[in-house]
Amino acid sequence: MRRFLMVASGGVFALMCAATGALAAEGVIGDPNHGRQIFLNGKGDVSACASCHGEDGTGSDDMGTPRLSNQVYTYILKQLTDFATGKRVDNTLGAMNDVAKGLTEQDRRDVAAYVHSLKTPFLGSDLRSLAEADDVDVSDLGDTAKGRMIVEFGAGDRGIPACKSCHSYHGRSAGKIFPAIQGQRYKYLKHELEAFKEGSQPNYDKETARYNDPLGMMRKVAGHLTDEDIKNLAAYLTSAMPETPNNPVPPSRERF
Ligand code: HEC
Ligand code: HEC
Repeated sequence: MRRFLMVASGGVFALMCAATGALAAEGVIGDPNHGRQIFLNGKGDVSACASCHGEDGTGSDDMGTPRLSNQVYTYILKQLTDFATGKRVDNTLGAMNDVAKGLTEQDRRDVAAYVHSLKTPFLGSDLRSLAEADDVDVSDLGDTAKGRMIVEFGAGDRGIPACKSCHSYHGRSAGKIFPAIQGQRYKYLKHELEAFKEGSQPNYDKETARYNDPLGMMRKVAGHLTDEDIKNLAAYLTSAMPETPNNPVPPSRERF
């Protein structure tokens, strides 16, 4: 079975490389080799992305940075554009707006193509060490079973749609504008949901809110979430797996 999986995923990978190469040649997506240079070494005044997002692109809970590896290409590119134009404010470290502005549009495409190509395995934030570091009980970080209920079914009585209706099964992404939220860092998930929630208020604070979601889709959802819901969702999503139980074939990574 293991061998089969390796052969199967190797085949998928080869197909994807071929597809990526063809798209890159048409100039539709960026050049991952140039993106890799920027990611690892930075460019001019722009620091290496790896210094904050990790060499493997899996982010850091200590710094509050997100996992970028394997994230949807169009989504990554949109975020970089939004940071560059100021439509999204980095309210964690105050770094991303200058980072994105310091890159050309082509650089942003290239680096987005590179991080999308990183298939680094990541099993989610280690909630036990996070709880130890904050000297709290791990259950204070959230109830994964309750988080899962909202991801799968929402909470209709409170106006919360199922997250999977937009982010797909276990939040693994529905492609294009819908990012993967499964396997994302706990601290980052919690922070973004809080920021979207702030952005749902009529007179939201532009420095702490996030308001770059198309049609206000995420703010409409986050406005109904309690602080408890946010913790439960972050705790569940960070270690949710993209595969369907008992189905050994992983979903197509093309969309991711
Ligand atoms: C000084 C640290 C730092 C550096 C250097 C840095 N980032 Fe970030 N990045 C962050 C932080 C912090 C966030 C979260 C911002 C927020 O809270 O809105 C972030 C967010 C992002 C996001 C949004 C991801 C999402 O899921 O929405 C993208 C994309 C991104 N960074 C790409 C890059 C790229 C590409 C580079 C290199 C060119 C880079 N970053 C360099 C700290 C950094
Ligand atoms: C109506 C569709 C829709 C629903 C339902 C929805 N989302 Fe989203 N979500 C989006 C879109 C679109 C984005 C991308 C926003 C952007 O482009 O900046 C997003 C972004 C996010 C992000 C930021 C990801 C990142 O990398 O920064 C998180 C976290 C998130 N959603 C969590 C949730 C959770 C948890 C639920 C369920 C409670 C949910 N979403 C339900 C549409 C939706």
